[in-house]
Amino acid sequence: MKGKRPTRHTPSAESAQAQALRAELHALRTDIKASVAAAVHKEVRAAIVQLEAQASLLARINGQRPLPAMHGWPISPDFGLVITDLLDTHTYHAVVELGSGVSTYIVAALLAQLGALAPVRQHVAIEHLPKYQAQTQALLARLGQAQRSAVRLCPLVPWTAVDGTAYSYYDCAAALADVAATLPTDGTARVLVVVDGPPGATGHWARYPALPLLLQAMPQAELHLLLDDHGRDEERDLAQAWQALLTEQGRAFTTQTFPCEKGALLLRI
Ligand SMILES: C[S@@+](CC[C@H](N)C(=O)[O-])C[C@H]1O[C@@H](n2cnc3c(N)ncnc32)[C@H](O)[C@@H]1O
Repeated sequence: MKGKRPTRHTPSAESAQAQALRAELHALRTDIKASVAAAVHKEVRAAIVQLEAQASLLARINGQRPLPAMHGWPISPDFGLVITDLLDTHTYHAVVELGSGVSTYIVAALLAQLGALAPVRQHVAIEHLPKYQAQTQALLARLGQAQRSAVRLCPLVPWTAVDGTAYSYYDCAAALADVAATLPTDGTARVLVVVDGPPGATGHWARYPALPLLLQAMPQAELHLLLDDHGRDEERDLAQAWQALLTEQGRAFTTQTFPCEKGALLLRI
């Protein structure tokens, strides 16, 4: 008996196209999986780095309570560690913060822990908004033992650079003069300045006026400006302009960058 002949399937033009499409989809799915995995890995690593830095920071300030939340607006924990390392390894007679908040709490907590070992006579955080002045003062009250620390309200006012560029900056000449008055006059004065305000939304190169104002207020002091957010184009550009200004004035300086998540630059003058 003759059997039925098996039907031979020859791929039609359409099914070849379907196969190519399937292969393309497969390759696409593999690519997407790999890039999602890489992105998740990067994010998780970054979060772990910050968690480790936060744990070190808490131990460094001998914190009995959790640190305030440190994501978004405040400094990141890795930047906090740079601040505490600088305070541990240098003799500073004053700390000035341009922009107040969690960093103010951390500096005050470290000073409270170091006690008389820290030669810092004054720690002043400059703040332009009453709401955040009150918020930072509440953090200091929660800490207690913050006698050397204060949050000064300095609203933003127009300020014009020597080249005629107009900025909106803290009205902080009086606050800086008060700090300058507490510095030693024997040529050893050294001041740490944490530059983390005003927010970028207040104007182009919002933080640029810090350097000219500090040079004017504390001409004899060795200034260490620690700039947060140096990973951003705007901060990198204004830091270049700071260096050009110093070169123009014949002032010697050094720079050091730190691999913080938002970038950080230390300018020593
Ligand atoms: C970049 S923040 C950081 C200040 C401080 N160094 C810290 O660690 O918290 C600079 C300024 O932004 C303002 N600011 C703080 N938190 C804010 C928020 N959630 N929304 C809008 N502005 C805020 C405050 O005026 C503050 O001085």
